[in-house]
Amino acid sequence: MEVLSVASEVYPLIKTGGLADVAGALPGALGSHGVTMRTLVPGYPAVMAKLSGGRVVKELDDLFGVPAKLIAARVEGIDVIVIDAPALYDRPGNPYVGPDGWDWPDNWKRFAALGWVAAELGLGLVDGYHPQVIHAHDWQAGLAPAYIKFGPSMNVKTVMTIHNIAFKGFFGPEIFSQLRLPPHAFGVGGVEYHGGISYLKSGMECADYVTTVSPNYADEIRTPNFGMGLEGLLNGRADTLVGILNGIDTDAWNPATDGALVRSFTANTIQGRQANKQAVVDKFELDGTDGPLFCVISRLTDQKGMDLLLQAVDGLVDLGGRLAVLGSGEAYLEDGFRRAMQRHKGKVGIVTGYDEGLSHLMQGGCDAILIPSRFEPCGLTQLYGLRYGCVPVVSRIGGLADTVIDANPAAIAAEVATGIVFDPNSAHALYEAIRKTVRLFADEKLWKKIQRRGMKSEVSWETSAARYADLYATISGLKTNDDPDN
Ligand code: ADP
Ligand code: GLC
Repeated sequence: MEVLSVASEVYPLIKTGGLADVAGALPGALGSHGVTMRTLVPGYPAVMAKLSGGRVVKELDDLFGVPAKLIAARVEGIDVIVIDAPALYDRPGNPYVGPDGWDWPDNWKRFAALGWVAAELGLGLVDGYHPQVIHAHDWQAGLAPAYIKFGPSMNVKTVMTIHNIAFKGFFGPEIFSQLRLPPHAFGVGGVEYHGGISYLKSGMECADYVTTVSPNYADEIRTPNFGMGLEGLLNGRADTLVGILNGIDTDAWNPATDGALVRSFTANTIQGRQANKQAVVDKFELDGTDGPLFCVISRLTDQKGMDLLLQAVDGLVDLGGRLAVLGSGEAYLEDGFRRAMQRHKGKVGIVTGYDEGLSHLMQGGCDAILIPSRFEPCGLTQLYGLRYGCVPVVSRIGGLADTVIDANPAAIAAEVATGIVFDPNSAHALYEAIRKTVRLFADEKLWKKIQRRGMKSEVSWETSAARYADLYATISGLKTNDDPDN
């Protein structure tokens, strides 16, 4: 089975968030399930810099008005096809946003090109390459299923995965004439959305199957609270919508071998975390205390509930906790954490920016990771936390609720608790969860049990990769629902 994954970011070539981790880890996990996955990715400077020994498999004179080459290569263990189109992608910094902080004005074209090339590859653009399934991730890849649906009839199937329904890839209707789609594609059964064009809606409407990244979020987005206007569409195709939980790359994230740690450790040598904790304390210029060291590793946005944490931070310090924040995002939140740091010298620290190595060290040294998200399709940092003994404190939402077992009395008695799960999603409930964490942390024996259990919980791709493999086989007709091993 040959599958083309279409993603605007893929770790370790280019990453701004969890999508990159997923797109980077899934191909490797699918190998043992008989699926060969190549990834189509734009040739941003960071991607081009890592390419070596690639092969030009196609030259295009006119990719939305600019010349482009498709380069096939194996980079850092991932088979990629890179769209080398400097006029579209050779820009510094973040893949989506210009230096002024605004979306690139031609994003519609940059990601229409991604979807169009994906579909053309499905239709046989490159000799000898015939993917049976095109797997599109998020709005940036959302036009791929539309180009397939409205293109010449071919036996290629499509899957659209929603990592975040909040980003719809919405553009004005004036771009339609340049998208190379037939006129009837501009309608409810196609790319049209509220008079304009939504790339995410296009993919959700046109794909053979829609997936999202946790079972709970798959249910949530069928309701007005979480569907953000797309719940009607999703309810209409409930029988071809499924939530498949993200896994993590357990090689890249392995506390026993992680080079970013000061000291590596396992569930049996958990005291090794102490040296990492000291390194985090030094890095964030914190001082000594007996209470837990909390961390945040996150985009600083409303989605992530960071405003709630700002309301609870004084309480966290009063309870004897300390807080290390690694993140960047909304200016008012960055400022808020900076002000909290000034108010609580030695108790609260913030490093703004993006630092992959430091994120590993924090998971390996902090006692608990705070994730008070308002919505969270899956979330990966709680999974990294589990694996590294950094106990997740999460809101009961999306994939967070699917992956963390709250330390309530029943779960403690049954020895299954792996974290702290709170609701409703308010500053007060978050404060109460922090209070509960401080209390549990004080019981050293119990705390270690929770940590160890988390470290042993199943967070790999194994089960979910099998489910994707199954889905690809089912939609491409290689497997029927009557198969006995279904
Ligand atoms: P989302 O994709 O919504 O941002 P996820 O939890 O799925 O949330 O994934 C976030 C990914 O980005 C994780 O790998 C996390 O460790 C990483 N990350 C977020 N912020 C930072 C940062 N400032 N520095 C390093 N890694 C970060
Ligand atoms: C999105 C979501 C996050 C998810 C990630 C990878 O960015 O916000 O919850 O873990 O995609 O699927």
